[in-house]
Parts: sequence; C-alpha cells; structure tokens
Amino acid sequence: MIYGVFSDVHANFEALRLVLGFYEKNKVEHFICCGDLVGYGPQPQECVQALMALKDFRAVTGNHDAAVTGRMDMKWFNPNACAAIEFTRKNLSGASLAFLSALPEKLEPPDFTVVHGSPRKPMTEYLLGENQFLDNLKLWEVSPCFMGHTHMPAYFRQNAAGLPESDFLGPMRRMTVGAGRFMFNPGSVGQPRDNDPRASCAIYDTVTKVFEVFRVSYDIEKTSRLINEFKLPVALGERLALGF
Ligand SMILES: [Fe+2]
Repeated sequence: MIYGVFSDVHANFEALRLVLGFYEKNKVEHFICCGDLVGYGPQPQECVQALMALKDFRAVTGNHDAAVTGRMDMKWFNPNACAAIEFTRKNLSGASLAFLSALPEKLEPPDFTVVHGSPRKPMTEYLLGENQFLDNLKLWEVSPCFMGHTHMPAYFRQNAAGLPESDFLGPMRRMTVGAGRFMFNPGSVGQPRDNDPRASCAIYDTVTKVFEVFRVSYDIEKTSRLINEFKLPVALGERLALGF
C-alpha cells in the first residue's frame, strides 16, 4: 500500500492544498498525519475539513491539537502559539473540534507506528539526537515509526553494527527500511524549520519499504497575508518565508 505521510500542517491550507494535489498526481490514496493539524496558521477549519474528507486518513494528536481541545495546558506554549490556539478554538466547527479531540496519541497499524513527538513522550519530546533514538528504541512495536514535532525531515536507524545513525532528509532522498529499527520524520507541511520554506511531505510504500521525502512549493505570501488579516502574530507569517 502507498501512504502519504505528512505532519505539522499547522492550519496552513495553501500548503496542505498543494501537498494533497501532489499526492493526487502520484495516485496516493491512503494518508497518515503525525499530528499538529492546527495551531499557528490562519485556516484551521479548512484544513481539518479537507483532511476529514479524505477517504483513508488517520492521524495522531499533536501538542497544538491537544491544547486547542483542552487536553494540554497552555502554560507549555509561547505567547504567539497561545494567540493562535485561542484563534483556532474560535474558528473550528463543533465537528472539527470533536474530530481533533478523538485523535489518539499513538497509532499502531500492522505496517508501521505513528506518534507526534516520540514513543516515550508522544506529545512533547523533540526527537533530535541519536541518544534519544536509543532511549526510545524499545518503546514501539512495528518499525518504521513515523513522527513529527521538530518540523525537520530526518531519519534515525540502527546500522549493521547495531549503532545509531541519523541525518536530515533532503528532497527526493529515498531510504529503504531494512533490518533494525527505523524512525522517519516527514518534515512539516505548514511551517518547515529546516531553512527550506517549501512544504515537506513523504511517501511510504509498505511493499518496497521505501520512504521518500518531497518538497512542494505553495503561495507562502497568501498564507502570510491571511495571518496578518486575521490579526495573528506577524512573526508567524514572517517565519514561513524563512523556512524557520
Ligand atoms: Fe508542530
């Protein structure tokens, strides 16, 4: 089965629209989101609605989704994120809020595992280092494990000697899952933080076991304009053009 694997949409509908168009062109019909469907961005309702409309869509909750639905305390968020969380609450339908409230912290379908941050702390850990990868190694069942939260496409794995290895994943970089444990981060659709402002997303084939990262250009100015129009913090728009 071919899956579109993506994360951290963050209510950036312009980016999501183009990413879903990219998947359609590539005949991808099954979708996995590693959380943070909303937060930061100007179009939460449009994003949740578009994702709910997909025929086969599964997601885990991110920390922003959890804050919007009252599952996580807002004291963990900076002022810009808090402003966006308040805005999001006011701009989601009851059905969208119910959908976000029901998202699990972890998904374990037969072919892979899905969390937002890490298996150890699904909603809060930023998995950036190989020591963290080792600490999490035995805390999930089926490899590969997909995660988001850092907004940077990357892989972690054990090499042939059993030692940890990791790197960022550039566009069109393919990796095949082999022996040992693998973790992949598809990067962020709506707020990339790896200095490449294009939307980041991935495709995973459960038969060939190939994971590949892609970058999709979208109208960044339009999203920034909407952020300003809706009186969200200006910095949330400015950072999109920088890819940070
Ligand atoms: Fe996020």
